[in-house]
Amino acid sequence: QQSAKPADQKVLKVGSETTFAPFEFQDEKTKDYIGFDMDLIKAVGKQMGVEVQVQSMGFDGLIPALEAGNIDAAISGMTITDERAKKVNFSKPYYKSGLSMVVKADNNTLKSFKDLEGKRIAVQIGTTGASEAKKIKDVKVREFNNAPEAFIELNSGGVDAVVNDLPVNEYYIAQAGGKDAKIVGEPLNSEEYGIAVAKKNTELAEKINKAIDELKKNGEYEKIYVKWFGK
Ligand code: ARG
Repeated sequence: QQSAKPADQKVLKVGSETTFAPFEFQDEKTKDYIGFDMDLIKAVGKQMGVEVQVQSMGFDGLIPALEAGNIDAAISGMTITDERAKKVNFSKPYYKSGLSMVVKADNNTLKSFKDLEGKRIAVQIGTTGASEAKKIKDVKVREFNNAPEAFIELNSGGVDAVVNDLPVNEYYIAQAGGKDAKIVGEPLNSEEYGIAVAKKNTELAEKINKAIDELKKNGEYEKIYVKWFGK
C-alpha cells in the first residue's frame, strides 16, 4: 500500500533575503545558499527531522509571507523587535548583533553616528538600519532592496554612509569593500536575531527553540559559529 502522506509533509519552508553575507548568501559556483543562518537552519531542521527548503525573497516580504502562510519560518539575520513580535513569533535569540556605519575609505569627517545629521544615508528597506537612520535629524535616507546595493551607492558617491548590521559590514569590508570603505565609530545599539514563524504557530516556535537548545548543548552551534566568525 502506498503511503498517503503528502510529499511535502516533512518539509520546512524557510524564507530568507539571501544577499546578507555572512548570514545568507549564494555560493558563486554551486549557487547554493550558504552562511551562518543557512547552516543553523539546516541543523535545526535535522534536529526536528524535517527537510529545509530555502526560498529567497525580499526582506520586507518575509513577515507578510509568514502571515500569508507561504513560508513556515524566516531566518534572515532578523532582529527581534517589539513591533515585529506583534505580527510573528520569534524563537529565542540565536545571535547578538548591532548597527554600525560604513563610510568611504577616504572620508575623514564622518566619525560617528552623531556626524550623520543632515547627511545622505543608504539602508536596506524594511530593516532596523532603515528605521534607526530615519530618526537622525535632517537626514536623507535612501532605501535599497539589499545591502550590496547600498554599498554600491556609497562607492559611487550617491550617499555619505551606509547604516547596516555590524557583522555584515565587517564581512563586506574584509571580503570586498576593504579598499573602498571603512567602518567608523561605535555600534549604535545592540540587537538580537531570532527565527520568525507565524503568530499562531507556537508549536513550531517551541520545536525550533528545543532544537537550538540541543545544538548549543551538543557543540553544533559552536562549530557553525566558529566556521563563519572564527573564535
Ligand atoms: N537585522 C536587521 C533587521 O532585522 C537587518 C536584517 C537584514 N537581513 C537580510 N537578510 N537582508 O532589520
